[in-house]
Amino acid sequence: MTLWGGRFGEEPTEAAWDFTVSRADRRLLEVDVIGSLAHVAALGEAGILEPGVVAEIEAGLDQVLAEARSGSFPWQDGDEDVHSAVERRLGEIVGRAAGALHTGRSRNDQVALDLRLYLTGAAERRAAGIRALARVLVDRAEGAGEVVVPFYTHLQQAQAVPLAHHLLAHAWALVRDAARFEDALARIAVSPLGAGAGGGSRLPLRPDAAAGRLGLPGVFDNSLDAVGSRDAAAEYLWCCTQTMADLSRLAEEVTLWATAEFGWVTLADRHATGSSALPHKKNPDVAELVRGKAGSAIGHLAGLLAVVKGLPLAYDRDLQQDKEHLFAVDDDLAGALAAMAETMAALEFHPPAPGPWTAALDLAEVLVGRGVPFREAHRAVGAVVAWAAAEGRDPAGITDGDLQAVDERFADGDAAVLDPAASVAARRSPGGGSFASVEQQIEDLRRLLG
Ligand code: ARG
Repeated sequence: MTLWGGRFGEEPTEAAWDFTVSRADRRLLEVDVIGSLAHVAALGEAGILEPGVVAEIEAGLDQVLAEARSGSFPWQDGDEDVHSAVERRLGEIVGRAAGALHTGRSRNDQVALDLRLYLTGAAERRAAGIRALARVLVDRAEGAGEVVVPFYTHLQQAQAVPLAHHLLAHAWALVRDAARFEDALARIAVSPLGAGAGGGSRLPLRPDAAAGRLGLPGVFDNSLDAVGSRDAAAEYLWCCTQTMADLSRLAEEVTLWATAEFGWVTLADRHATGSSALPHKKNPDVAELVRGKAGSAIGHLAGLLAVVKGLPLAYDRDLQQDKEHLFAVDDDLAGALAAMAETMAALEFHPPAPGPWTAALDLAEVLVGRGVPFREAHRAVGAVVAWAAAEGRDPAGITDGDLQAVDERFADGDAAVLDPAASVAARRSPGGGSFASVEQQIEDLRRLLG
């Protein structure tokens, strides 16, 4: 039975019903009951419902909550959505008193509340999951010791940096991702309960009392905005999507690193998959699917914004679609975080040494130290690179004499500068790719990550 049959002369057709019912909201069952418990208590406090009725409804809702938590809630095909299902079930338990639960409330403020309660909890869980992955990266950085790798710009070797520095770059992005979820709580943890269908009520509702019971620090200011807005959901979804994009960049590197051509890492067998046809294959499917699901996340974010962008105020049924976009991405993010944390923890690193030209900037900076303007120093080192290429010389074998033959401003001892390990050892700018910087970052990250 629907909640709204009074003015209708016939039941919805099967096609209309199947098309409009919501099933994606079933995961809101627990928060829906928690919201109803706060609502009914606030109604009692305001003297809108008799204490006896409140007690009856509360006892019934407690049972529904227990059913929700144990997974034994009896869903029925005739439930239009989670809210209808709870009211139907409450009626089965307490009888007529269940009819008073919806006093001063609409499914419009109810679903908005459910979503905000759900996202409040989910934001905390996601932030924790992100920090757990960041901690794995910090552990791996700490364990990377003196290993030096090239970093890339344009996917061409640029300079040598500690492997730890590279891993920590991803950790810093994750720290911001986690913080973003918590910042968003200022706008998510706001109660819309009491907005009713969208205009409020003639009953003496106390939205602040209901919000207080739910532990939500904010209360709506405008009832139309309360039931019609989904920007808090979109912000949450963006937090997920940005995190997925950051995980995708890490995943892309893992995929690249695991190639024979790069040869930086070996994946643990338990985090890799095989080919049904090619017996030798060991594929980085976790990383690839993180990359793939990041693409889906971007689509869902665009999808949610497309749902809201043309809607007249206040509530429109289109908004029911918000949950499909949100939950799909939130689930992918939770899965990606867990799988990537394990994968990164077990990766075996064995990167080849960076090429000698990764110290080319060092050679130019040596000249700068002698008063040569940087642009001239850059050209002088460029001339060395061109000479070596033309002569077919291995840059690792370049001597002081070779350098001086190309440009007389080079001095004895300069050839030794063309060494990636020496380049890292000489680096001193704060936050740069040096071991001192890595040590500082690890200390700072450990403090931030707890
Ligand atoms: N299932 C609906 C949703 O998810 C709940 C609100 C329905 N409100 C209404 N007036 N039909 O958005």
